[in-house]
Amino acid sequence: MESINALRKSALRRLRSIKHKEELRSFEVEFLGRKKGKLTAVLRRLGSLPHRERMSIGQEANTLRLELLEEINKKKNIFAEHAMQEILSKEAVDITFPPPKRPRGHLHPLTHIRLEAEEIFSSMGFSVIPGGPEVETEYYNFDALNIPSDHPARDLWDTFWISSRSSKVIDQKRKARGRSAFRVPTSKVLLRTHTSSVQVRHMESHQPPIRIIASGKTFRYEATDAKHDTEFIQLECLFVDKNVSVAHLKHTLSAFFQKMFSPKVAIRLRPSYFPFVEPGFEVDMRTAEGEWLEMLGAGMVHQQVLKNAGYIPGHWKGFAFGVGLDRIAMMKYKIPDVRLFRCGDVRFLRQF
Ligand code: PHE
Repeated sequence: MESINALRKSALRRLRSIKHKEELRSFEVEFLGRKKGKLTAVLRRLGSLPHRERMSIGQEANTLRLELLEEINKKKNIFAEHAMQEILSKEAVDITFPPPKRPRGHLHPLTHIRLEAEEIFSSMGFSVIPGGPEVETEYYNFDALNIPSDHPARDLWDTFWISSRSSKVIDQKRKARGRSAFRVPTSKVLLRTHTSSVQVRHMESHQPPIRIIASGKTFRYEATDAKHDTEFIQLECLFVDKNVSVAHLKHTLSAFFQKMFSPKVAIRLRPSYFPFVEPGFEVDMRTAEGEWLEMLGAGMVHQQVLKNAGYIPGHWKGFAFGVGLDRIAMMKYKIPDVRLFRCGDVRFLRQF
């Protein structure tokens, strides 16, 4: 009986000082362990006692056992609660904390210029039509524009031709997708060298008055340098109506450049040659700093082109021009090398 009382005292004192789950476990083993537990040893010795003592001592020992088990359980719960509190405070989310900045994408500088140009022409009453296919037929890129295959002017546009096998595949795919094959099936296929390819394409399905712009990628098979790339963006403008003159062309162009750059800029037209216009011009712009820069090709739409579009000969007049948007972007943003636009270097692109 005495040793049980002593055991209770020492056990309860130990329990009070326990601060960790691990200590609690070794306490449990020390007192209640099956093999070497101190209380277990007392219970084991019961058998050697006389009957009456065995009853009273046994009862006492069992009470102690239950008491200890309950205390251990209480402590376990307290420890578990503490552990949970710790997790909760450590992993707490402060919903008032500002979120990390997410990098946002933005438009490419050429897209900015393209949108700006579209805005300007829209404000002048032009419709912005889809840019037309980049993979184009020889017909729309050349023949329809009064440049037959034996015409020396073809040398003006160094062309990426698409091999006849791929041309056939493209033709078949278009057919399979339920689109009509190219209008002129025998036509060879190329990467369009200018957006003028949209002129006859558009006029075939529309009647004058026509006031449209169309922009998109164009390609030239050329050595690249700071001013030339094999790929660039052109914007084509086509205006067809009854009494159209060079004055309309000149006004449209100077209004465009003044809105794009500054009211101070001026333009001048120099005679030039493109088979699809007559007369044809090279257009220069005088910058606010007084420097003349060559900007684009333009002219009055050649009657042969209007005829190729199916219009009654002599009935309509028009002007057209094609302007390189890379060039404009270079001037506006002061970019020294056209190849930067497509180099994929984010250090360049992040500046816009
Ligand atoms: N398509 C010509 C070029 O890329 C430019 C142009 C367009 C000239 C329309 C006259 C009329 O060189």
